[in-house]
Amino acid sequence: MTKKILLSVFLLPAAMAFAQQYGGMWIPTELNEKEMKDLGMKISAKDIFNTQKPSIKDAVVQFNGGCTAEIISPKGLLLTNHHCGYGQIQAHSTVQNDLLSNGFWAKNPDGELPNPGVKVDFIVDIKEVTDQILEGTDNLVEPELTKKINKNIEVYKNSQKIESYQSIIVKSMYYGNKYYAFTTETYKDIRLVGAPPQSIGKFGSDTDNWVWPRHTGDFSMFRIYAGKDNKPAEYSKDNVPYVPKHYLPVSIKDKTENDFTFVFGFPGKTTEYLPAVAVEKIMTDIDPARIAVREVALKTLDEKMRTDSETRIKYASKYASVANYWKKWIGEVEGLKKSNAVEKKVMYEGSLVAKNHEIKATLDQLNKLYNDQAPYALNNAYYTEVVRNAETLKLAGDYYDYIASVEAGKMDDKELTKLKTKVTSFYKDYSAELDAKVTAKLLTLYANKTAPQFLPIGFAKYKDENQNVPVIEEMSKNSIITGRAQVNGATLTGDIEKAFSNQDKLIKTLKKDPIYQLYVSMKETYMKNADPQFTSLQGKIDELQKKFMAQQMATDKDRKFFPDANSTLRVTYGKVKGSTPRDAVSYGYQTHLAGVMEKYIPGDYEFDVPKKLIDLYNKKDYGIYKDKTGDVPVGFTATNHTTGGNSGSPALDANGNLVGLNFDRQWEGTMSDINYDPRFSRNIMVDTKYILFIIDKYADSKWLIDEMKVIK
Ligand code: ARG
Ligand code: ASP
Repeated sequence: MTKKILLSVFLLPAAMAFAQQYGGMWIPTELNEKEMKDLGMKISAKDIFNTQKPSIKDAVVQFNGGCTAEIISPKGLLLTNHHCGYGQIQAHSTVQNDLLSNGFWAKNPDGELPNPGVKVDFIVDIKEVTDQILEGTDNLVEPELTKKINKNIEVYKNSQKIESYQSIIVKSMYYGNKYYAFTTETYKDIRLVGAPPQSIGKFGSDTDNWVWPRHTGDFSMFRIYAGKDNKPAEYSKDNVPYVPKHYLPVSIKDKTENDFTFVFGFPGKTTEYLPAVAVEKIMTDIDPARIAVREVALKTLDEKMRTDSETRIKYASKYASVANYWKKWIGEVEGLKKSNAVEKKVMYEGSLVAKNHEIKATLDQLNKLYNDQAPYALNNAYYTEVVRNAETLKLAGDYYDYIASVEAGKMDDKELTKLKTKVTSFYKDYSAELDAKVTAKLLTLYANKTAPQFLPIGFAKYKDENQNVPVIEEMSKNSIITGRAQVNGATLTGDIEKAFSNQDKLIKTLKKDPIYQLYVSMKETYMKNADPQFTSLQGKIDELQKKFMAQQMATDKDRKFFPDANSTLRVTYGKVKGSTPRDAVSYGYQTHLAGVMEKYIPGDYEFDVPKKLIDLYNKKDYGIYKDKTGDVPVGFTATNHTTGGNSGSPALDANGNLVGLNFDRQWEGTMSDINYDPRFSRNIMVDTKYILFIIDKYADSKWLIDEMKVIK
């Protein structure tokens, strides 16, 4: 044994015990009840998840496939984030009646607004089904293995008796080492009840995104409607408010540091069990590549958005979504460095090998595979991000798929309508001139950062940005994809039906289009020189990751394992807590309305404050919503281990009462998706006091509060 490994083994128990302190996203049927109780929980695991009688899980739903939401009244009143309901609020907005800017509050149930297409999913039951799904797979290798598993999943699903409005979803856990079946129930009549104006619901916008101290009232309210029998039903004005099996009482008691909390929701994706080499690649190759691409796109957009308000409105939502993960990845890299994630993993691997020497072979192979894959993975990261952020190329990709589908004889009326709708809605918020600039700059980046074997022939000419901008502008002007040139006597951005009227002509023109040809050269080079190698190595990595996961679980008996997030229902728990993320910097756990006013910049698009809120602040008209400081609490942080998808999740106290609404994480801890560290990882929630204060005092919608069970 080398000195390094000896040292690591010696240091490890303390390091691991620390890292394990509260992280984890637990399957609700497998909770660490004892640890939760030791931390202060007063209810039992059965109160959280029970299929025999009502439990807290009956009040928690997945909101429209992405976020989480919870029921807070006996009449199916639903609470989620403003950024989760954003699309619906926007869809009800017009220039004359801009609900995003003004907010919206139904005066009574009749005023609630339907949202066709929006659904919520309840989890009715969870069962481990590993034996059924892995039956007869012992001696199989890929691709037979996956085929057999998929067949077993079908057999299992067909063997279960469910209602017409229910589904069964089988999900792999621990990289294919276990399988779980979820019975879900879907309600489809979901109406908008209320939303504060953006100046409250999105206060601080991109500048404050991922940042603590935070002052955003990121909430909106919906209601679930059901048929007269309380069962799911398609939208009908005769539907009635859903009567839930359970709804969350809302506590407006003061919070104290170290209070127990748990968060119940649908976290999307984490990768906590990767080998050190994988984390190192994310930190040094993948994240920096993605960040670099988005940085160029954002900077170019920002220059224009600052001087032109039409562009600012058009690109606001896109800019926010590009900026969201750009900022997240920067925080993630910093956090991985600061938490010594790679070193910690290396040490951990040393300790595993010391206990079970077979693990060494797995790790050696993983190391080799990740290193072999590195150049392809890097190209994959640059290629995907460039094509996603150079909108002109992304559009070209849609037309490329269209031609491929026509040529394969797969294009029917339905597919064609889908494509036309997709590009039409894209063109609505698209500026060809601006994107020509973004595309030119991204091509420069791609030409300079990409190894020659991954570049199309002749691509070196894009290396110089100054030459490039006019060249791409010229291509863009002569392209039908950008809507600046015509086909069939029309532009695709003007009269799409006419532009599609002669499809042979359209396809011929596309194939000669300068932007289309540029895209094809990039795509085909990527598909030939990088993608097959990348994908085939990834297949091998996945197989070994499954083995490595099983070995970790079999070897590290002291560790409590939880499966990585995969958009299934989970519980995470911890304590209300501030943090000390940097030298001499220390964060309190709670923000207040006074802090909103400290950030107030009149007329600013991120930090304006609505007049009525300023009036309430000046009059100190806080009613029962102030805390011991005399001010209204706005946000708070805790050590709950959350990720994307947990937005809108309820934060509950020791008694299972709602105390906060999860919506974000603190920047210094966003590496928690890869390496949760209780020193820096904090989830950010809106305080229930602020939510009720806004509903009652700001929106004069006391009728909604009267529906709730408020714990004072
Ligand atoms: N960072 C949070 C999450 O990942 C909130 C995002 C919405 N807000 C924004 N300014 N883009 O979803
Ligand atoms: N803001 C994220 C969401 O929308 C939550 C997070 O990443 O912490 O789900």
